[in-house]
Amino acid sequence: MTDKSIEEIQQAVRKKYSEVSCSTAGRFRYPTGKAGAAARGYDLSMLSDLPDEVLDAFCGVGNPFALEAIQAGEKILDVGCGTGLDMILASRLVGPAGRVCGIDLTPEMVGKAAANLIRAQAGNAVAVVAGSEAIPYEDNTFDVVISNGVLNLSPLKEQSLREIFRVLKPAGRLQLADIVLNEDLPAEMTNNLDAWSD
Ligand SMILES: C[S@@+](CC[C@H](N)C(=O)[O-])C[C@H]1O[C@@H](n2cnc3c(N)ncnc32)[C@H](O)[C@@H]1O
Repeated sequence: MTDKSIEEIQQAVRKKYSEVSCSTAGRFRYPTGKAGAAARGYDLSMLSDLPDEVLDAFCGVGNPFALEAIQAGEKILDVGCGTGLDMILASRLVGPAGRVCGIDLTPEMVGKAAANLIRAQAGNAVAVVAGSEAIPYEDNTFDVVISNGVLNLSPLKEQSLREIFRVLKPAGRLQLADIVLNEDLPAEMTNNLDAWSD
């Protein structure tokens, strides 16, 4: 529980990630960028031709692609797409018959993702500004929802999960990498906006 409003928490998250969209340096306790992707077991051969702009702001906490293979032709949603690395990898895996949509709460992240999708020639992918709590797609749209290090930042986790399962097709898959708590946090942390966006 927290005495902060949803809007206050989301503003703090947006502020941090608008800064992260320019540079991850000194902002995380875990490796980010290309070193972070390597540490999380991403297939380095899939990263080798990507421009630095795509890799630099990667700050995922795991590897959603390790959970199950993405198939050609699938329709993928990336919740909290950041600057778009996972979208670009998904775009290549689904190929021209597939489609990748990305949403992110932070407009600066979406701006960078859109530029990176063009750089990587991911013409089957599009990123829009939206939160996990109100996903701007119809019911039963996606074969797979991927997300990497995002739901821990949402003050409305159950609502976000309801939204994800609403837009997933009945036999769809959620391939989620995230941070989970083993125990409740003390009030001085849940009421600390910096801790929400940490
Ligand atoms: C740790 S970064 C991970 C970004 C990206 N998934 C990656 O692996 O590089 C978290 C991202 O989630 C976004 N975010 C935070 N809360 C969100 C929410 N409720 N809905 C959508 N995006 C959110 C942030 O703006 C940020 O881009």
